[in-house]
Order: sequence, then C-alpha cells, then structure tokens
Amino acid sequence: MGEETTKPKKRKMKGIILAGGTATRLFPMTATTSKQLLPVYDRQMIFYPLNTLIKAGIKNILIIVAPEHSGQFLNLLGSLFKKYGIHITFEVQSIPRGLAEALTLGENHIGDDNVALILGDNIFEDDFSKQIKEFRSGGHVFAKKVSDPERFGVVKFNKNQRAIEIVEKPNEWISDYAVTGLYLFDNDCIEIAKNIKPSERGEVEITEVNKAYLKKKKLEVTIFEGEWLDAGTPDSLLEASRIVKEKGITRNFHPVIDEAITEFSAELKVLSKKKLK
Ligand code: G1P
Repeated sequence: MGEETTKPKKRKMKGIILAGGTATRLFPMTATTSKQLLPVYDRQMIFYPLNTLIKAGIKNILIIVAPEHSGQFLNLLGSLFKKYGIHITFEVQSIPRGLAEALTLGENHIGDDNVALILGDNIFEDDFSKQIKEFRSGGHVFAKKVSDPERFGVVKFNKNQRAIEIVEKPNEWISDYAVTGLYLFDNDCIEIAKNIKPSERGEVEITEVNKAYLKKKKLEVTIFEGEWLDAGTPDSLLEASRIVKEKGITRNFHPVIDEAITEFSAELKVLSKKKLK
C-alpha cells in the first residue's frame, strides 16, 4: 500500500509585472508611450523588474499593460526571451483600479502556483533571488527606510523586528519603513484580492493583501539597504538614470537580458539598412 504524504505540494513561482496606468506626472512623455517603456540609462524601465524576476529563475511572466500601449510592449517583448524558455504574456487593464487588481487579472496565469508581483517602475539594486527561490507560503515583502513614509505603504516593527502593523499612506507617523513594490504571495492571494473593498482613493490596495497575511501571522518582511528607485517624476526619472549608471546596476543583470537586447538591436539595424536600400 502506498504511503500517504502530507507534505504540501511544492508550487512554482509565476511572475507578474504591473505596467498599466497613465503616469500623468510624466506628461507629455507618457502621452505617447507607457512610463515603463521610457528609458532609464541605456534600456527601457521594464527591463529592471524583468531582471528581478528572470534572475530568480521565473520562467512565466505576465505583464499587465494599458490598452493604448499594448502594441509597443508586444513589439519589444513579445518574443524577446522565447529562445531562453522564458514566456512573456500580456493582459490588458482597461482602467487601473489599484495594485491588488493585478492578482485577480492574473488569476489564470497564477493557476495553482505562487506569485512574485513587481511594480513595473520599481528598480532595485539588491538581488532578491534567494528570497524568491526560497519562498514557499504566506506573504513576503521588502521594506526600506525612507525620509517620506507618508507617500507609501508603511510597516511598523516591534522590538524583535517582527512586523506588527501596515498602513497605506499614514496620516500620522508610524514608522520610516516603506513597503516597496515587490510582493511574494502564495495562492491564497487571489481569494484575498477578490474580497478587498476599494479604499477612500477608490483603489483595491495591495496593502490590504499584506494586512491579511499579517493578520494570519504569515507575512515576512525583509529590510534592505540598497538603492530603491521609482521614476515617477521628470526629476526622479533623471536621477534613476544617473544612479543606475554610477552604480553599474545593469552590469549585474542576468546575461540573458543583455544577450537578448543586443540580438534584438542587431536585427533592428539590419531591418533599417534594408529599408534604406
Ligand atoms: C503603491 C502602494 C504602496 C507602496 C508603493 C511602492 O503606492 O500602494 O503601498 O508602498 O506603491 O512604490 P502608489 O504608487 O499607488 O502611490
């Protein structure tokens, strides 16, 4: 008689990059393209979150995009990583209703697996591959000390560095630690996201998903020191390019990304020469 096993099934990790939205603070640049397709130093912003996921060995990545930019994303990434066994698919988000919507829009993509959700404009200097590869269940988020916590989801710790409270854009100071835009969740996140009511700003907040895991004592928080860049304004976009160049952040990219970019650029050069003939 076969022995019955109670060991939980090891689930795969799927990736989701949220790259929708209108990025009004970057008008007029984002009137013609997506924020995540604007350059940060020598490549489009989307390559930074892609690198975070690809470095961690994730092979199936869903990119959520605004309808008006879907063609541009497809042209750039539709088959870029195919030969490396990395499958990129797209989902259109007609109206952005909040970050947690990525989990319900991505329900079929996630299937029975776990998910690493990353915001398409988040650039991390640190490599979180270890945490992503070792993730098994619950939730895991990454926090960084900031000088303007009121702009973010904020996490408060007790004396033992355990997270005890998370508040989205707190009116009153609770902590200096912002919850950044990389979230690792087990499969329960889909049901959690489905049950979130929109906040005062009319969004289904990712902070509510984190709070649900915190309540179940299943939320792990890693504090990190490396650069965390968001490129939401012209100044911070410029600053992001400068820091990426100065710190050589792209030199630590997974080799597959540079190989794919070089090959794609070479193909484009051949095509443009043909057109000139
Ligand atoms: C969102 C989240 C917030 C998080 C931040 C990270 O804020 O709601 O919890 O700290 O991303 O970039 P938003 O960009 O919607 O203001």
